[in-house]
Amino acid sequence: MSLNEKTIGIVKATAPVLAEHGETITRRFYLQMFSQNPELLNIFNATNQKTGRQQAALAEAVYDYAANIDNLGTLTSAVQRIAHKHASFNILPEHYPIVGKHLLEAIAHVLGEAATDEILDAWQEAYGFLADLFIEVEEGIYRENQQISGGWRGTREFKVVNKVKESDLITSFYFEPLDGLPVADFLPGQYIGIYLHPDHSEHRCIRQYSLSDAPNGKSYRISVKREGEGETRGIISHYLHDNVQLDDVVELCPPCGDFYLIDRSDAPVVLMSAGVGQTPMLSMLNSLTRKKTDLPIIFVHSAINSRTHAFGQHVRDIAGTNDNIEQILFYDEPTDDCSAHHYAGRMDLELVRDKIDLPEAHYYFCGPLGYMAMVKGVLQGWGVTKDRLHYEVFGPHKDI
Ligand SMILES: Cc1cc2nc3c(=O)[nH]c(=O)nc-3n(C[C@H](O)[C@H](O)[C@H](O)COP(=O)(O)OP(=O)(O)OC[C@H]3O[C@@H](n4cnc5c(N)ncnc54)[C@H](O)[C@@H]3O)c2cc1C
Ligand code: HEM
Repeated sequence: MSLNEKTIGIVKATAPVLAEHGETITRRFYLQMFSQNPELLNIFNATNQKTGRQQAALAEAVYDYAANIDNLGTLTSAVQRIAHKHASFNILPEHYPIVGKHLLEAIAHVLGEAATDEILDAWQEAYGFLADLFIEVEEGIYRENQQISGGWRGTREFKVVNKVKESDLITSFYFEPLDGLPVADFLPGQYIGIYLHPDHSEHRCIRQYSLSDAPNGKSYRISVKREGEGETRGIISHYLHDNVQLDDVVELCPPCGDFYLIDRSDAPVVLMSAGVGQTPMLSMLNSLTRKKTDLPIIFVHSAINSRTHAFGQHVRDIAGTNDNIEQILFYDEPTDDCSAHHYAGRMDLELVRDKIDLPEAHYYFCGPLGYMAMVKGVLQGWGVTKDRLHYEVFGPHKDI
């Protein structure tokens, strides 16, 4: 099925209005939707609503769709990313009409008299078209996750079999399935969705965590940073650290995500991270180490100091026993007893250019948005092409 030309014309013509009012529309959309369909508060992250990050992500997506409706091929990678994120929340076909109804109402409200029936009909059709596309892509992900050996659909119960403090801020959790059956392999870099209902929270909460070790068929490991304090205290990261203990049962959805190590035997790999952004890089590093490749692999990491730095010894051990692997460490604020770092201060890529500016290398990076914008800017300045840059945002997506 395809959209008719008239609809395409109207939606494209209204795209600039969306650019102007996008976040007002999506803010109203969420307010209305949660007041009329409060059950969805068990799916969406309330904090991302409060901080406005989710409204911004949705507004950006709706605008991109409108602006590119005559050339939907350009949206393929965004559709994949969003569909994988949706799959980790177990979004189902029956959710789409609810979102569509409230989105259309919000567009009509914000556009006021400018929202003619013709415009609203066009948007209705365009929304239906996009919804069908997501439903199809998401069903493909669910099917694949179910059919793969050790896979499943929806959520599955896992027991916490180990909890390890990795640094002052980061703790790892190891999960094995209650049914005792194997667990699906994943692509290094992918994440799982964890479903928890803390006693003090009115609603169930779903969060994503990158898998921080290589696949092993038996268990999964995540490594979680305590986020914020006081007013900005993160709900689930603190709950995991303080309340989730050995033998507790949690629900997990299968591994998802479009950020993963590309399996190539001819390209060096540069893994770059700041803080807890190193979790997907650890999975990639551990997987590459097991494969016993000869490719140059450079692990560049930035932490505040040795107290907050997790997995330092692990990466040092790997680098010490594999000639092709090198670790480069920056400490922002080293204390007197810090000795493991190579550089003091914020990560400065020019200082290590001779080691990481490698022909054909693929660059994977993850950390705060400002950090990733810096990495991308410097690498592009060196002439690294877009197809060799891969990054993950630990929150509602933002193009950097
Ligand atoms: C693909 C993906 C992979 C991820 N992988 C990891 C991982 O490996 N390890 C990891 O630790 N995290 C990871 N995350 C982040 C994780 O999903 C959670 O977002 C994180 O743990 C915070 O959840 P929370 O419930 O503690 O915070 P929430 O309550 O959801 O709050 C979200 C953020 O907002 C801040 N905040 C809270 N209230 C306010 C306020 N009033 N004003 C401003 N800011 C506020 C919090 O400090 C927190 O940083 C990943 C996220 C994604 C999307
Ligand atoms: C065509 C319709 C839709 C569009 C364009 C859309 C778009 C988006 C975008 C852009 C994101 C952010 C993705 C990211 O961070 O990488 C997102 C996340 C999300 N979407 Fe959708 N979505 C749609 C339909 C739905 C439906 C039907 C539901 C279920 C009710 C839903 C639930 C969610 C949830 C729970 C998140 C994560 C929110 C968070 O992290 O706070 N979406 N969506």
